Amino acid sequence: MGVYEARVISHQKLQESAYLLELHCPEIVEKAQAGQFVHLKCSETLAPLLRRPFSIHKTDAARGSLSIYYAVVGEGTDLLSKVSINEQLSVLGPLGKGFQLTKGKNVVVIGGGMGIAPMLFLAEELSKNDNKITILLGARDKEGLLVKDSFARFTNDLQLATDDGSLGHKGTVVELLKESLQDNPTMLYACGPLPMLKEVKRLSEKEGIPCQLSLEARMACGIGACLGCTCKGKGEKYYPKVCSDGPVFWAEEVDLSE
Ligand SMILES: Cc1cc2nc3c(=O)[nH]c(=O)nc-3n(C[C@H](O)[C@H](O)[C@H](O)COP(=O)(O)OP(=O)(O)OC[C@H]3O[C@@H](n4cnc5c(N)ncnc54)[C@H](O)[C@@H]3O)c2cc1C
Ligand code: FES
Repeated sequence: MGVYEARVISHQKLQESAYLLELHCPEIVEKAQAGQFVHLKCSETLAPLLRRPFSIHKTDAARGSLSIYYAVVGEGTDLLSKVSINEQLSVLGPLGKGFQLTKGKNVVVIGGGMGIAPMLFLAEELSKNDNKITILLGARDKEGLLVKDSFARFTNDLQLATDDGSLGHKGTVVELLKESLQDNPTMLYACGPLPMLKEVKRLSEKEGIPCQLSLEARMACGIGACLGCTCKGKGEKYYPKVCSDGPVFWAEEVDLSE
């Protein structure tokens, strides 16, 4: 892990408030694992003071670049959306614990909303290890699934769901998961909004399928020093830090009930 000045190589507006940002940062690319994140200064100015965390969406070793896929939700991401090519951003990373990869297994990858972001890097890594991969992506509408084509080359089974039915199954990605369970997967990987994660966790426990969940929390330091990002762990007085004990946890490690 280190702090690097990364040059913006490309910055693409994908939809009304979602962007794909590619940063030249070979030092992070060399070490990054799927599920890890970077802590980014969103502009060259001082404000906002705190870095913002973003999952590594994909890496390109030949270009020495990593990409993040992000939505504009507040001050930091709004500033980030205005960053131009060749500007330098301060990047801390790679951070956190990533996904544990399977080999030769039947796995389901589930991404909901901006939780789709870390799943592309994961799908690529899983595809290198002879896994049979089902990918389930869900969003409010088809605009939220504009990155779907990048996933297609890592699977023969890409299924989509939208709340409004504008693309794929009309309904939730959890409904797609329920059908996929008939294929007896041996590992579930999920990232998305809390209600989705709760349902994935419940189904994994009911069916006895190992499951890894990537969680989100407001973060300050990003490196386990400030206790600003704790979540509720399973068991008395266990409050793991999302930034350094996660963001990826085994489903049974965390209590998502509150
Ligand atoms: C490990 C990790 C990986 C992430 N990866 C991505 C990613 O790949 N793409 C992406 O778009 N976003 C991702 N996020 C969320 C992203 O960090 C926040 O959207 C961003 O920090 C918001 O900054 P802001 O200054 O624009 O918004 P703020 O002004 O800080 O907040 C705006 C609104 O967003 C909410 N919010 C801010 N941060 C979070 C958070 N961490 N969790 C839940 N709600 C939050 C606030 O409560 C507020 O309502 C990730 C978060 C974590 C912890
Ligand atoms: S953000 Fe400081 S401990 Fe996690």
